[in-house]
Amino acid sequence: MNRYSRVAGTGSYLPERVLTNADLERSVDTTDEWIRTRTGIERRHIAGPDETSSSLAEHAARRALKSAGLAPSDVDLIVVGTTTPDLIFPNTGTLLQQRLGIHGCPAFSLEAACSGFIYALSVADKYVRCGESKCALVVGVECLSRFVDWTDRATCVLFGDGAGAFVLTPADEPGVIATHLHSDGKYKDLLYFPYGVSSGFDKLRSNSTDGLKMLGNEVFKVAVRTLSRLVDETLAKNGIERSDIDWLVPHQANLRIIQAAADKLDLPMEKVVVTVQDHGNTSAASIPLALDTAVRDGRIHRGQLLLLETFGGGFTWGSALIRY
Ligand code: ACO
Repeated sequence: MNRYSRVAGTGSYLPERVLTNADLERSVDTTDEWIRTRTGIERRHIAGPDETSSSLAEHAARRALKSAGLAPSDVDLIVVGTTTPDLIFPNTGTLLQQRLGIHGCPAFSLEAACSGFIYALSVADKYVRCGESKCALVVGVECLSRFVDWTDRATCVLFGDGAGAFVLTPADEPGVIATHLHSDGKYKDLLYFPYGVSSGFDKLRSNSTDGLKMLGNEVFKVAVRTLSRLVDETLAKNGIERSDIDWLVPHQANLRIIQAAADKLDLPMEKVVVTVQDHGNTSAASIPLALDTAVRDGRIHRGQLLLLETFGGGFTWGSALIRY
């Protein structure tokens, strides 16, 4: 019999501190009205000075394990999608592992910007399918507030911090039906952070105030076009009709991008999980955050068919089709 993975539990976490559009009106030349009409965002959460990606991830992971009825000691694989690791090394997966008090299982991070969670899910799903993992913890987490340029109104209004997690366990029936991943590095200059370790490290060390760089308009156009193709691909490769989808759980970057994807599917917005108003773009954290919210408030039920889709820096993009 085929082995599949299934989502046994979900969890999420948002830091306590809330930064509203009204707060931003006081620090940059913007308005609540501009932010809401262009993006749908009303507020975002900002990690406290003592919080890190691994501490946010711990909250989400513990909640996901609790909802699955499992304990940290059951976990035999940790995959974390993040662009904002606590440290350059050790990787955030191992820091999370230590926080959970477990030792020995493989734990690693991967970086695919906003697509980090779907990439992590795809990897963990394969470990479970081939029998190498019986309890995989998959996390998307970001502390984007740390590298946003808070004087740049074109970007600082968009982003926030948070974490989301899934627990995957083996199942005889899907579960995770399929994941589809893509990337194309030719779009690097449309969305990137200008420094790393092997390039520009001196700038990082000198506390440069540069933040992430984005040509928002161009990103918007490519995102809408690419997500539309991705939805077609996901439906066709899995023999699924648009009408079969119970919930679209998109990356929460911008309400207008989400609406364009829903239009493509002929899905009314009542069947789309939208949480971007409450936390802004949390990159790799956004999909598990949105999905966990909709599970906990009773919108998403066991047995429903979910389409998850994402798009982000790289560019990277991907989808997951899940029978919840
Ligand atoms: N407040 C007020 N005015 C602003 C602000 C602000 N916060 N930011 C920009 N403006 C101004 C611009 O300066 C410009 O002024 P001008 O006409 O005098 O030159 C005007 O608003 C229009 O700017 P545009 O960039 O054309 O505005 P647009 O409608 O494209 O909206 C936005 C900008 C929201 C960034 C949009 O392009 C977008 O969402 N793009 C997608 C980017 C994204 O989501 N990236 C995240 C990572 S990728 C992903 O997750 C999908």
